[in-house]
Amino acid sequence: MSKIRLGILGGGADSLIGILHRVAANMFDHYEITGGAFDIDFEKSKNFGEKLGLDQDRIYKDIDAMIEAESNLPKDKRIQVVSVLTPNFLHFPMAKQLLENGFHVICEKPLTTTYEEAKILKAIREKTGSIFAVTYTYTGYPMVRQMKKMIAEGVIGKIHKVDIQYYQGWINSLIHDKEKRSNTWRLDPEKSGISCCIGDIGTHAFNMAEFLTGTRIDKVLADLNYLYEDNPMDIDGTVLVRYSDNAKGVIRASQIATGEENNFCVKIYGDKGGLKWEQENPNYLYHLTEDKPLQTLKPGHAYNSDFSLEGTKLPPGHPEGIFDSMGNIYLGIANAIKNHTKFEGAYPDLEEGVRGMMFIEKTVDSHKKGNVWVNLND
Ligand code: NAI
Repeated sequence: MSKIRLGILGGGADSLIGILHRVAANMFDHYEITGGAFDIDFEKSKNFGEKLGLDQDRIYKDIDAMIEAESNLPKDKRIQVVSVLTPNFLHFPMAKQLLENGFHVICEKPLTTTYEEAKILKAIREKTGSIFAVTYTYTGYPMVRQMKKMIAEGVIGKIHKVDIQYYQGWINSLIHDKEKRSNTWRLDPEKSGISCCIGDIGTHAFNMAEFLTGTRIDKVLADLNYLYEDNPMDIDGTVLVRYSDNAKGVIRASQIATGEENNFCVKIYGDKGGLKWEQENPNYLYHLTEDKPLQTLKPGHAYNSDFSLEGTKLPPGHPEGIFDSMGNIYLGIANAIKNHTKFEGAYPDLEEGVRGMMFIEKTVDSHKKGNVWVNLND
């Protein structure tokens, strides 16, 4: 069977996320990177594309050139799906253009820079019927998938409390110096959107909460931290959340938790037990109960669900990491493109990106209104 022809926008040689997508796309042999515009600088993009072994004429100056040339190719040669790996402000115009020209889309998070834009993409996708994934990377980990299944099967009973934390420290080294602060696009509202911390990592926590519990967050009350008055972007925040089934919880995110790397922890407690998982040690899922010693579940064992096992490629004891997690998401997207989706939740859909944008806007709104409860609906 022929491979899916994948185009890439952004994700060039010096980008953070490009390598993750390229490895993920190659992991299960479903995709062939066929072309793209990898860098804002065309020379750099050409050099990079050549390094990837691409034909010169599939390395494009920009998205316009790519769409024009690809649309003129016979259908069996044309790029089928495009990954959008640029800074946030380009996600909306690029994804819109791709949808309107008949491509499937894989888009980095946050989906757009405003909720309004996200809804426009949703309306277009309803007409085109394209596959549209938003890469909330962490939902691909085998033990996250196992956690979702265990919660759905009632292993921890009725959920009481959901505590999700995503702590990083990297902005501490920039935030105290005005010049350094202005040199990162993540702290520029024009490029990043109205929020830095909640938009960049709080949105992962929000998605994880809804993915794992299978319920929706209905309300938020936020207390954000901007640290300096002339800084327009939050760099830390605590958000109280209420779920549609009345469970309560908290989303804690920070980029000034000095010394922290990617400390993303999920703790969910119900009336029969609790489950805990940490991104920096992703191969351990802890199951807590009142009457038994702590149990540690690991990937690849037959006691895991099929959904968890699908993405485990080697026997137990070979650690899975973030590349595997993204690889599992690309696998889910490939199955959807080939029309044989096996598992619900195998990749995060556009709808989840739209919810993420609503969360970002309502959270900032809650903070700006004086830390009040805000409903997550239109
Ligand atoms: P980056 O700044 O490291 O790289 C951005 C890349 O896009 C660069 O190669 C740049 O030259 C290229 N680019 C910019 N404008 C372009 C244009 N008009 N055409 C083609 N290429 C262009 O950014 P980073 O950290 O890789 O983030 C990119 C996106 O990935 C962001 O939306 C970010 O939120 C997301 N991200 C997601 C993560 C996840 O866990 N899912 C983790 C890190 C980033």
